[in-house]
Amino acid sequence: MSTAKKRVGILISGRGSNMMSLIAAARAAGYPAEIVCVLSNRPEAEGLLKAAGEGLPTRAIDHKGFASREGFEAELDKALADFGVELVACAGFMRKMTAGFVERWRDRMLNIHPSLLPAFKGLDTHARALAAGVKLTGCTVHLVRSEVDSGPIIAQAAVPVLDGDTAESLAARVLEAEHRLYPHALSLFASGAALVSGDMVNIRQASINQAKPLFWPPLE
Ligand code: GAR
Repeated sequence: MSTAKKRVGILISGRGSNMMSLIAAARAAGYPAEIVCVLSNRPEAEGLLKAAGEGLPTRAIDHKGFASREGFEAELDKALADFGVELVACAGFMRKMTAGFVERWRDRMLNIHPSLLPAFKGLDTHARALAAGVKLTGCTVHLVRSEVDSGPIIAQAAVPVLDGDTAESLAARVLEAEHRLYPHALSLFASGAALVSGDMVNIRQASINQAKPLFWPPLE
């Protein structure tokens, strides 16, 4: 495993709560990554102010100012290079990427999605999970591939669906899990404990004692 902290750039489009969980986790002395910048395609993104409040460099690159996706992504690439970014963490970054950008960052770009992928790719994941009647949903951290919300899975958290849940109450329960999962997954990846092998990620797990099934509703 490498000892130097990996330089991480976070991409956001909105409120940045997952970003904040990564910033907080990365403050721990032994954490294998440091957050070096926060970039947004939306200048009005709340998360930019929060990141600046944490003392981090931020840059807004408004996608509306570019004639093409490639033009926008060239500017994004330039910013990532300026900050010496080695790993990109998408945290509520709601902009489709070209295959070229995804390839340039292949196996160096992570994303968090609010479902147990490959179920419920795309938007409105919680409303669709409720409509499908699933008893467990959750969140996934994965490496980005050009197909939206797909790519080798690093880690997942399963979250129970309760009777009477609304899309909002379920989103809030999943979000709490997201805030714990993303720092964990980034740590595994940045430390080299999670290794990409083709379309899979192999994890050098410390303890298989925790590999217990989660029953919902509970058995007793
Ligand atoms: C999070 O729930 C994240 O999983 C989701 O957007 C939200 C961003 O919230 N991402 C996606 O749906 C990507 N397909 P945040 O800005 O508070 O972190």
